[in-house]
Amino acid sequence: METVVSGIRPTGNLHLGNYFGAVKSFLQMQNEYNCLFFIADWHSLTTHPHPENIRKSVRTILAEYLACGIDPEKATIYIQSDVREVAELYLYLNMNAGIGELMRTASFKEKARKQLHIGQESGENDTDEMQKEIFKEDNKHSVSAGLLTYPTLMAADIIIHKAVKVPVGKDQEQNMEMARRFARRFNATYGVDFFPEPASFSFGNKALKVPGLDGSGKMGKSEGNAIYLVDDEKTIRKKVMKAVTDSGPTVPNSTKPEPIANLFTMMEIVSSKETYDYFNEKYNNCEIRYGDMKKQLAEDINAFCAPIRERILDIAANEEYMAKVARAGAEKARQSAAKTLREVREIIGFRN
Ligand code: ADP
Ligand code: TRP
Repeated sequence: METVVSGIRPTGNLHLGNYFGAVKSFLQMQNEYNCLFFIADWHSLTTHPHPENIRKSVRTILAEYLACGIDPEKATIYIQSDVREVAELYLYLNMNAGIGELMRTASFKEKARKQLHIGQESGENDTDEMQKEIFKEDNKHSVSAGLLTYPTLMAADIIIHKAVKVPVGKDQEQNMEMARRFARRFNATYGVDFFPEPASFSFGNKALKVPGLDGSGKMGKSEGNAIYLVDDEKTIRKKVMKAVTDSGPTVPNSTKPEPIANLFTMMEIVSSKETYDYFNEKYNNCEIRYGDMKKQLAEDINAFCAPIRERILDIAANEEYMAKVARAGAEKARQSAAKTLREVREIIGFRN
């Protein structure tokens, strides 16, 4: 059976982007593959080095994974830091990873700029400017080496279980490309055919991007535009009613401007086809009333979130159950990781 691995960082509650971009695939895949789903608590240190309460953040995601329907009887659910073998593989992969290739990844550049307190891309020499800032000796801000090697740790997460499919959203494509590269490089360096190359996976073969409703491209925690699975009805309504719209089309069948297209994309994701078609037709006839559309959308989002929200509250109250799931998951994940690591040590030439 093929192995599947994916993880989410415990930096806040799960939102609709996480659900439709990643978790929904987890649910389908757990029936067909050998699945391991984890909580990437080490990764959260790359941007949140002093977590206020990392245990609580981890428990939040664990409860939400379970509430969404990830079944510990079918899939292995574990916490990244429970599997120390991953850190050892990360060390080996880092020996063959170039700082140049790591520095050129888009998410590094974006997050490094934040850590250096410099603004968004200023022009074509923005990488030069960033490097100058990084090398400045008296700079009071520094970029974490952990952030630089984020993709190596992610590669280790995946290949330690020899996973071949990784359900992630579109924003992870570059990290996945790096994971494949590091797997290939290990094989080439040691002249073995050991690690398979992992591929991103989404049902329908099209990586999904859940939009924000504030006119921006992506729904995300750090974008501040997220609708959380745990949000109550009132909060959902408030967030949806605030969505950016315009005065409406004046020419039939016009192209939708981005904020409007986003609203429709969201409706396509959570509402029925009939509902979507109804409002789409209204738009094309220039009869659309965005207020009505948003009301309907808020209702549909709430209908989707309500049962999950209830389960989150139930499960989160059952600490014993959650601890049991985490313990059993750690055990299984460690076994799988230890097996690979023994072989890796053998291949490189270390004693076991
Ligand atoms: P965030 O961007 O909110 O910090 P994460 O980076 O922790 O979320 O993402 C966890 C998973 O959810 C990843 O697989 C990511 O691709 C997916 N994901 C996050 N936001 C979206 C989105 N708006 N659309 C599709 N997938 C998403
Ligand atoms: N980078 C992923 C994110 O931001 C989280 C992650 C860490 C991950 N390790 C992984 C995803 C391994 C899939 C597989 O969402």
